[in-house]
Amino acid sequence: MKRIINLTINKIIYEHAVEVNTTLADFLRYELGLTGTKKGCDTGDCGACTVILDGDTVNSCLVLAVQADGAVIETIEGLSNEDGLHPLQQAFVEKGAIQCGFCSPGVIMSSKNLLDKNDNPSNQEIREGLSGNLCRCTGYTKIFEAVSSQCSDNKGGSHGKI
Ligand code: FES
Ligand code: FES
Repeated sequence: MKRIINLTINKIIYEHAVEVNTTLADFLRYELGLTGTKKGCDTGDCGACTVILDGDTVNSCLVLAVQADGAVIETIEGLSNEDGLHPLQQAFVEKGAIQCGFCSPGVIMSSKNLLDKNDNPSNQEIREGLSGNLCRCTGYTKIFEAVSSQCSDNKGGSHGKI
């Protein structure tokens, strides 16, 4: 059975018929082609599918698309613009915080949400903010450095919090 839903994703309004048992992750990837949102586990364990929904991060594999009806959603595709990468994305590149890249969209969306809410998180708050995102490659240190470099105290070159 399908239901019509309305969503705002990366500032674009969508009206779409969707099966009631389709997850938000599958809806984004397979109905809208927004494949930047990854699926690692499909059980809420890895954070690869993290998106921002009405100002909070969610594992989109655990949310039904119909539950997101009316929501405002940000995905990794919404971060860069015609001027280039989002500063947080650029920091991940410059700090070498990306290896295979599979976790990166989810990690970056969690980082963005953290910094949107608190522009100067402590080292501990960064760790807590990213605790739902698993990375098999980087050992996390570079990821924490990249996020820390975007804290208001550290912009301009230093990453003294790590
Ligand atoms: S794919 Fe959603 S948490 Fe792993
Ligand atoms: S960079 Fe490979 S899983 Fe994180």
